[in-house]
Amino acid sequence: MILIRHPGATQPIAVPGVVLRPPVAADAVDLGRLYFDAYEPGVAAETEQDALDDITLSFEGGYGVLDPTLSRLAWSGEQLVGALLVVERAPWPDTPDCPFIIELFTARSHRRLGIARLLLSVCANVSVALRVEDNNAAALALYHSVGFRGVADGN
Ligand SMILES: CC(C)(COP(=O)(O)OP(=O)(O)OC[C@H]1O[C@@H](n2cnc3c(N)ncnc32)[C@H](O)[C@@H]1OP(=O)(O)O)[C@@H](O)C(=O)NCCC(=O)NCCS
Repeated sequence: MILIRHPGATQPIAVPGVVLRPPVAADAVDLGRLYFDAYEPGVAAETEQDALDDITLSFEGGYGVLDPTLSRLAWSGEQLVGALLVVERAPWPDTPDCPFIIELFTARSHRRLGIARLLLSVCANVSVALRVEDNNAAALALYHSVGFRGVADGN
């Protein structure tokens, strides 16, 4: 289902020891590895190489032009622990005409620390949409907790 969140007042948040910065193409290998590890086997990519190829395609604009003002990587020291990739406009016919989150994931070792919520706070001042599977309970709980609602039904 597609969810959307409109701009609204948010509290400044931080996660101790975690620093955000925009992604660059040189991050593709680290990102591909984390992307592969973050999902259950076969959900996002069949192999680590597939994951890397998908991330490379994201950098090349295959899912829309990456927006460096809204996309962020989360680092704990030298370790990449989370990522939010946002495109200016998604290429699919059913996606709204606004920035679109094509990926959000947190390292298994760093979950429930508020990293995904921190990453999403970067988009607090714009309307932003995303697609989530109906059975992704963790993601649905996260998105609802920070104000995303269904495009179709407002729930
Ligand atoms: C979904 C995901 C990104 C959440 O990342 P995270 O950094 O652990 O999330 P946060 O710590 O910021 O959680 C914020 C809130 O989201 C909700 N939440 C997050 N994970 C949850 C879970 N497993 N079960 C229930 N609620 C959850 C909670 O309300 C949580 O607040 P709380 O910890 O104070 O209760 C992470 O589980 C992940 O990478 N999953 C695999 C990739 C994925 O499915 N991405 C989304 C694709 S649409």
